Amino acid sequence: MRRILVTGGAGYIGSHTCSALARANFEPLTFDNLSTGHRWAVKWGPLIESDLRDPRAIRSAFETYAPDGVIHFAGSAYVGESMMQPRGYFRNNVESTLNLLDAMLDCGVDRIVFSSSCATYGLPKVLPIQESHPQHPINPYGESKLFIERALWWYSQAYRLRSVALRYFNAAGADPDGELGEAHEPETHLIPLAIAAALRSGPPLRICGTDYSTPDGTCVRDYIHVSDLAAAHVASLRALLNGHIADFTALNLGTGIGHSVLDVLRCVAEVTGQPVPNQACPRRPGDPPVLVADSLAQSVIGWSPAHCALPDIVRSAYLWHQEHYEVPF
Ligand SMILES: NC(=O)c1ccc[n+]([C@@H]2O[C@H](COP(=O)([O-])OP(=O)(O)OC[C@H]3O[C@@H](n4cnc5c(N)ncnc54)[C@H](O)[C@@H]3O)[C@@H](O)[C@H]2O)c1
Repeated sequence: MRRILVTGGAGYIGSHTCSALARANFEPLTFDNLSTGHRWAVKWGPLIESDLRDPRAIRSAFETYAPDGVIHFAGSAYVGESMMQPRGYFRNNVESTLNLLDAMLDCGVDRIVFSSSCATYGLPKVLPIQESHPQHPINPYGESKLFIERALWWYSQAYRLRSVALRYFNAAGADPDGELGEAHEPETHLIPLAIAAALRSGPPLRICGTDYSTPDGTCVRDYIHVSDLAAAHVASLRALLNGHIADFTALNLGTGIGHSVLDVLRCVAEVTGQPVPNQACPRRPGDPPVLVADSLAQSVIGWSPAHCALPDIVRSAYLWHQEHYEVPF
């Protein structure tokens, strides 16, 4: 059985991917410092409780487990926080990743799937956003992801490191089997916050900006089910291990369908049977009005999303929240 080191495997997208890896006959080795991840989410292989900021710990994990490849989720992922604390973001997202890449090169591991983001594009000039769209991030978070994409390209040329950078749009939903779900603390994502507001286990939902140039004035986003993201990681890994990807490739992961904040609130109200209490607030700096993906993933790795309908995504998140978790506030 092939072993895959999964950094951030105790987190939201990482844990769903470990589950998908196990189903695809890989052994996931979770490398995680549990700063935002959860011990309970590591169910399909060992947990190496360690920090990517410690180069010796990473090297020791490679020497002990000799993985065949790496999927790299670990990092700091709050756009707003990155504006206030860029230094932590460049340390944790850039320096830690360079530590990881050093260990890979030193230990002869030459395939990696990297969690990038649509935040690398900044304000879109053309919609839907294709992979070839210019990348001009407007926050330190997006900048940190773009830096690593560039490093991966240069490493592919100099060291023959093979990599796929997956630029996710808005990850959402929960494992349909109910084993895993989204449990961020603090939660900043729209769907879990709207569900918590509807169930009165969270505060009224803040709608940040109602005067955008969109049909109903609120921001439009492309919500992609976390199980589809997990499947895309397995497909990328297979393409790397089979030699179908020779150097560096970047792929958008989205459904290509945009939903406004008000669309999401209506959908949450339908699924939960409760209205979503909300309040209109000013725009947040740096929020583009519309982010919707076009993607080469079908032609490059044979992936397309299976759960495109927003009610399906919201229902899976609702079932998880009902049974397992209340958003703290
Ligand atoms: N959630 C989204 O919508 C979204 C969108 C685009 C990109 N991403 C990216 O996907 C990745 C995963 O996102 P998520 O929502 O699952 O986040 P998450 O916070 O749930 O998971 C991140 C994991 O990394 C671990 N971690 C952080 N720093 C570490 C370090 N120095 N050493 C070891 N472990 C460390 C955390 O404990 C956590 O388990 C992140 O890189 C994020 O930037 C997420």
